[in-house]
Amino acid sequence: TLNGIDFAVADLSLAEFGRKEIRLAEHEMPGLMALRREYADVNPLRGARISGSLHMTVQTAVLIETLVSLGAEVRWCSCNIFSTQDHAAAAVVVGPHGTPEEPKGVPVFAWKGETLPEYWWATEQMMTWPGGEGPNMILDDGGDATLLVHKGKQYEAAGVVPNAEDGDPEEWVIILETLRNSLARSSDKWTKIADGIRGVTEETTTGVLRLYQLAAAGELLFPAINVNDAVTKSKFDNRYGIRHSLVDGINRGTDVLIGGKVAVVCGYGDVGKGSAESLRGQGARVIVTEIDPICALQAAMDGYDVKRLDDVLDVADIIITTTGNKDVVMAEHMAKMKHQAILGNVGHFDNELDMAGLARYPGVRRINIKPQVDEWVFPDGHSIIVLSEGRLMNLGNATGHPSFVMSNSFSNQVIAQVELFTKHEEYDKEVYRLPKKLDEKVARIHLEALGGKLTKLTKEQAEYIDVDVEGPYKSEHYRY
Ligand code: NAI
Repeated sequence: TLNGIDFAVADLSLAEFGRKEIRLAEHEMPGLMALRREYADVNPLRGARISGSLHMTVQTAVLIETLVSLGAEVRWCSCNIFSTQDHAAAAVVVGPHGTPEEPKGVPVFAWKGETLPEYWWATEQMMTWPGGEGPNMILDDGGDATLLVHKGKQYEAAGVVPNAEDGDPEEWVIILETLRNSLARSSDKWTKIADGIRGVTEETTTGVLRLYQLAAAGELLFPAINVNDAVTKSKFDNRYGIRHSLVDGINRGTDVLIGGKVAVVCGYGDVGKGSAESLRGQGARVIVTEIDPICALQAAMDGYDVKRLDDVLDVADIIITTTGNKDVVMAEHMAKMKHQAILGNVGHFDNELDMAGLARYPGVRRINIKPQVDEWVFPDGHSIIVLSEGRLMNLGNATGHPSFVMSNSFSNQVIAQVELFTKHEEYDKEVYRLPKKLDEKVARIHLEALGGKLTKLTKEQAEYIDVDVEGPYKSEHYRY
């Protein structure tokens, strides 16, 4: 704690560098800056205590400071152990008007290269507000903050935390340990937190899936807005964002020439489409694997070979998973990959790659090349290069998606926070999406920033296609 702010970041002296990059990013985030101007006098988030779990990058710093400028108090952690940019975290703690000796910003609990116990410690700190009052809003990416509250309340009701759970066993043991410790200190911490929360806004496909599962089971404790499925989020960030940051991660991690190589992209959803385009843009020969015939056919029509992973292991130079599913590349697959082939994942969790199986593989050796780059050598002498230990490599090896595309995503986040905070009584414990009109508003701002000129409908044309001149311009079932 310094100047009344509690925090845990790598190095506050990085704040000045962070502030310079935040200043440049602000210009590239016209949506967030427009929202700051629009709400300058209204402060719709006054009284909001937002607990946020989302990659602590420069772009997220601009999001955090937008929430603050709308009146919110904020506490933050990252949603991934490798994704924090330490200079951004420092700058957010110091704030625009503070100094490293006298910080005046926001409590952040995040640094690059956390261990899993540290990760869950940071998440708990982010949820634990000084003075007893808990958060009243959650901003989540991947659902870990939401999960902690739900599991915490469930175990408090039972009075005991179980010893083992489904899912990734190693990770679960650590979450359960975190909850066991908090149950030892208080019997109703998470219950109180859960009861005070007006809602959660969720950033990504994987977190949204968890929310729909909770809602379907009747277990969702507060209303949720699915930000991911705003068109200006998933059809832009997931796709065009990864188109930028995937090759950025491969280049920074390995510096291997991508042109001419055979690259396999597992999954051809939004992230897969951007990944395949990114690799093709560098001249790679791209192969796609899919389980859904519609997405597989799209890949074929886009000019990619559609194959099974087992059939291409002997030709693949690069394999990237984008499925949000588990057990996509198993240790047996890894053992059959080419010498020094590159393996990385950009789906939300590391269980797409069987990292546990790799570590257990008989006779395997791990050589750390540099942070977030490991060579795994098999007993026959051949090796593969694994990026970011199987976790989101575009954030672990590079800096994630660039500002302009994140401005789209985060504008939706801010709008969703304002909506749930100010109108929570109008929402049930269900998962909602933002109205299309707001999606169009976000797109309009970013199109203008790019110098695009929109054609205006005439009244007659609008009537002919049965829409309002001011929008929305598409039906709910339109797919873009
Ligand atoms: P999506 O649902 O659009 O695409 C996933 C695709 O994978 C689907 O088409 C599905 O049929 C396919 N798939 C599922 N199991 C498969 C298997 N065993 N083999 C091959 N294909 C399989 O989801 P989206 O939006 O593309 O997100 C994917 C993941 O990426 C999620 O975990 C999401 O949270 C994460 N994400 C990561 C970002 C990053 O910066 N790295 C940005 C945005 C999302």
